[in-house]
Amino acid sequence: MSRQLIAAGNWKMNTNYEEGIALASAIAENAKDPKCLVVLAPPFTSLAGVSQAIKGNPNVKLAAQNCHEKEKGAYTGEISIDMLIPLGVEYVILGHSERREYNKESNALLATKTDLVLSKGLTPIFCCGESLDIRNAGNHIDFVANQLKESLFHLDAEAFGKIVIAYEPIWAIGTGVTASPQQAQEMQAAIRGLFADQYGAEVADATTILYGGSVKPANAEELFANPDVDGGLVGGASLNAEGFTAIINAF
Ligand code: PGA
Repeated sequence: MSRQLIAAGNWKMNTNYEEGIALASAIAENAKDPKCLVVLAPPFTSLAGVSQAIKGNPNVKLAAQNCHEKEKGAYTGEISIDMLIPLGVEYVILGHSERREYNKESNALLATKTDLVLSKGLTPIFCCGESLDIRNAGNHIDFVANQLKESLFHLDAEAFGKIVIAYEPIWAIGTGVTASPQQAQEMQAAIRGLFADQYGAEVADATTILYGGSVKPANAEELFANPDVDGGLVGGASLNAEGFTAIINAF
């Protein structure tokens, strides 16, 4: 079993153009020989600058935090996938819980976005995760399974095999409360089991499943040590080059 390990930084609505370039340059400088692939998701306005800053380091890739589900048209203020590709974007985060909540993105809409991103040859980083209420009710595994089924299980095995998954329990995002290594492993093993049932063990074994939610230098190593945790999608701690480098080196 060998799958791609990834440390992804989701900068969210942080960093201006210059700050983005400085942060990306420092990370690219530090990530000379990592055990994982490094993926940076700056705001749209910094993509072009970050793209230049990481050029020449094949270990560092560029991601968008979202894209529109249509290829073009009268959608004021939106960004299409075809605008991202010439900037060197290779990954697109889809279904982040903040977009599900604030932008009312549904499982059905995310299925459409997934199809579009795959059709253009880019890699979706597909996020899933439950709220604290759902976990406390004991329904977290069913809830996450349903998110994945409704958005991804229309894909054939070949298309599905190109996706990266990020399990991000909502109660752990930006709260400082991290899922325990056992909680992350339990869910991510269940997710892989679900994929094995649908697509077979070979596809499931090859799928990269990241954990996200208050990953920090202090907890990355114990999270990444789990057999079904193939890296992290990191928010707050990815905004500091030194801290994110420590996370990159936690594998
Ligand atoms: P956090 O965010 O690391 O700040 O909790 C993770 C994410 O939302 O991707």
